[in-house]
Amino acid sequence: MRKLLIAGNWKMYLTFEEALTLASSIAEYSRGIDSVDVAIFPSAVYLNSISDNLKQSNIYVGAQNLHPEEEGAFTGEISAKMVLTSGGNMVILGHSERRHIFGESNEFICAKVKRALYSGLTPVLCIGEKLGQRDAGQTEDVLDSQLSGSLEGAALTAPNDLILAYEPVWAIGTGRNATPEQAQEAQAFVRDWLSTRCGDMAEKMRILYGGSVKPNNAVSLLSQPDVDGALVGGASLKQASFCDIIKVAVKITEEGK
Ligand code: PGA
Repeated sequence: MRKLLIAGNWKMYLTFEEALTLASSIAEYSRGIDSVDVAIFPSAVYLNSISDNLKQSNIYVGAQNLHPEEEGAFTGEISAKMVLTSGGNMVILGHSERRHIFGESNEFICAKVKRALYSGLTPVLCIGEKLGQRDAGQTEDVLDSQLSGSLEGAALTAPNDLILAYEPVWAIGTGRNATPEQAQEAQAFVRDWLSTRCGDMAEKMRILYGGSVKPNNAVSLLSQPDVDGALVGGASLKQASFCDIIKVAVKITEEGK
């Protein structure tokens, strides 16, 4: 069984004080939990302070985005080196809000993935279909083209180089999560795709599910064989709900799938 990862995507929420408090309380809860990995993705503005505060903890801290260029005249953008030197070790890329609100293409996301890999940051690459695409039976085609386009030419040499997150767009922030069967079906497809691309390594790569994960649906989702963790939005903004999801992951790990 792959080590489960519970990741909190804080998006554009929380004041500085609130973010520091939440980060510390998650770290407090996670102290001594080695069987499950925990990551948080606060606003990049807070990365330095939060990663400093969490130095003694076992929590990964990451950014929600970056620019593919190493540096340059890109007002308002964040480079991989900025994330790294602010204590971040992961980065969410290709989130549906970046793809659909900010119009990011697979090609642009691919350049970011390569920059992250080259810089030593672990990308959490998000992919997922819209509702109309699912209804039209296009889910696998969409996943295939997002995977091919976002990973073209990316050098993947070890299973932990890359984390995938299957996030159906219709499930994000809607309270309507994919059923465990839908998540499993899509994620088995993603793993098959990865095994064609990366061979045996695919068995060791983590594929998270994201989209309205809450403590009450975490058990059935995380119990699926190809669901190796969760990327949590709304429920990651409260200590109680996020830590309850971590607790579910610990229990599933103890009991085995
Ligand atoms: P949600 O967000 O849990 O609020 O649906 C998930 C995500 O955007 O990663």
